[in-house]
Amino acid sequence: MAEIGSIISNKQVILKHYVAAGSAIKESDMYVTTTSITLKLPEGSNALLIKTLYLSCDPFLQFIMKNTPGLTGYTFFSPGSPICGYGVAKVLESGRPEFKKDDLVWGLMGWEEYSLVTNSQSFSKSTTLMYHSPTIQGFLNEVSRLKKGEYVFVSAASGAVGQLVGQFAKLAGCYVVGSAGSEEKVDMLKNKLGFDEAFNYKLEDEDLDAALKRYFSEGIDYYFEQVGGKMLDAVLLNMRNHGRIVTCGMISQYNVPQPHGIVNLMLVGLKRLQILGFTHRDHDHVYNNFLDFVLPLIRNKKITYVEDIAHGLDNAPTALAGLFTGRNFGKQLVAVAPHDHHY
Ligand SMILES: NC(=O)c1ccc[n+]([C@@H]2O[C@H](COP(=O)([O-])OP(=O)(O)OC[C@H]3O[C@@H](n4cnc5c(N)ncnc54)[C@H](OP(=O)(O)O)[C@@H]3O)[C@@H](O)[C@H]2O)c1
Repeated sequence: MAEIGSIISNKQVILKHYVAAGSAIKESDMYVTTTSITLKLPEGSNALLIKTLYLSCDPFLQFIMKNTPGLTGYTFFSPGSPICGYGVAKVLESGRPEFKKDDLVWGLMGWEEYSLVTNSQSFSKSTTLMYHSPTIQGFLNEVSRLKKGEYVFVSAASGAVGQLVGQFAKLAGCYVVGSAGSEEKVDMLKNKLGFDEAFNYKLEDEDLDAALKRYFSEGIDYYFEQVGGKMLDAVLLNMRNHGRIVTCGMISQYNVPQPHGIVNLMLVGLKRLQILGFTHRDHDHVYNNFLDFVLPLIRNKKITYVEDIAHGLDNAPTALAGLFTGRNFGKQLVAVAPHDHHY
């Protein structure tokens, strides 16, 4: 363990340039470099000196890498500086009374081995390395109005958010179908995560409407939207009257030059549908409430949480870019430093 006050090497993942709007982000939009850092808080500083343990690969990072206008609530980074996203770290030195040496903290941090964090407003103490809690807390507390027996469809169902949403809907007594981009993921949804049905949307691309009709002969009550585009159009055709669509994301639209124009929107009125958008940024403050809720479920094997862990910052650019090609199998993390990882 490096001594406080020593100067040590510090590997970082740097954004090379802003990515053009409508383009997919690639590994080559980032590079890994090694600089040095003095492991010491400046005198009188209220910053935190942290050692990064795990980083979360999240689709929202591409919005910052594209300098997308209108974003709020994140720590922004620009070309030449480290990527900054959610992670878990260990406190080495603290200038804030709420945190002390060796605390685990969760929040927005740089993609580097060690950081001097001067803006640690997003930080809270963490007892575990669980990610995406604010998103799912939003689903549980404010969005979910699921009733037993309802028909629920989840797209991008095998990923970080989708796998939990589907399992929570099952716990609520719903019939749950998920879509994912490979046979292996479909198998996981049905045979490991307990979804009633699942299908490979790539194999059904020619007629997503027919695929949904196969699994929802009575129609869909509740759609957890994560992909947008053609899937949303097909879902609109299959929604039941008074159904709800909860828009968490639209990943199929992030990297296309021309977004898909939704043609079936008229059905919102005809079917009296509700569409609700939400963001984890409204729920970050309830991170620990979510952990109190979900960790016992995981420990008691009521919920399974599938993670895909890339080891080392050298592999971080591949892991992040892989979200947009479906390379990840479950929640994509980067393990930066060895640490006991359990729930
Ligand atoms: N509102 C919020 O606060 C919030 C927070 C977190 C995430 N989100 C959104 O929720 C969605 C899922 O995020 P996540 O973190 O859970 O990521 P994830 O599902 O773990 O990873 C992304 C997955 O998206 C799928 N995908 C990629 N390109 C696609 C395309 N063109 N069409 C359909 N599926 C595609 C891939 O799975 P397949 O193999 O199945 O294609 C990939 O594995 C994203 O839209 C994200 O932006 C929103």
